[in-house]
Amino acid sequence: MSKAIYPGSFDPVTYGHLDIIRRSAQIVDELVVGVLINNAKNPFFSLEERVEILEEMTKDSSNIRICSFDGLLVEFARKQQANVIVRGLRAVTDFEYELQMAQTNHILDEKIDTIFLTTSLEYAYLSSSIVKEVALLHGDISSFVPEYVIGKMQEKLRKVHQEQ
Ligand code: PNS
Repeated sequence: MSKAIYPGSFDPVTYGHLDIIRRSAQIVDELVVGVLINNAKNPFFSLEERVEILEEMTKDSSNIRICSFDGLLVEFARKQQANVIVRGLRAVTDFEYELQMAQTNHILDEKIDTIFLTTSLEYAYLSSSIVKEVALLHGDISSFVPEYVIGKMQEKLRKVHQEQ
């Protein structure tokens, strides 16, 4: 059985991520979406929120599981008994960082390989940081994330404003 990990921060998950999730889940028998805990990055959504959103977005796919992880990605992959990591490549600007990560992970565990899916053209410009920036400035993010994510972002922004 082929099993792969698609790791990321998913803060928030975008149409670009969802496209990679959908396409990689068609290639492997089981896809584990690994949500990095990364508290150091001071995420917009908590870990629980990011996991819940991804669960909602993938609820109709029986071969996709959402898990969180901390520490080394190769450790997480080993625990999940997966030896393939999936990453999306948007443009040449992603390449250096992704190559470095893939090679580091392969040195850390030679059984683990990274495969890259090229992001679909319509999402090539898209990033979670851009989505957050536009949302914080009250811009329209409907081309970037599903309705469900927009609702969660608006809810969060309302809470933040109330607390201020
Ligand atoms: O969505 P992101 O923020 O681009 O995802 C980055 C991620 C989660 C793939 C990367 O930060 C990661 O793998 N972190 C785990 C720590 C690790 O294993 N580091 C060594 C390999 S470079």
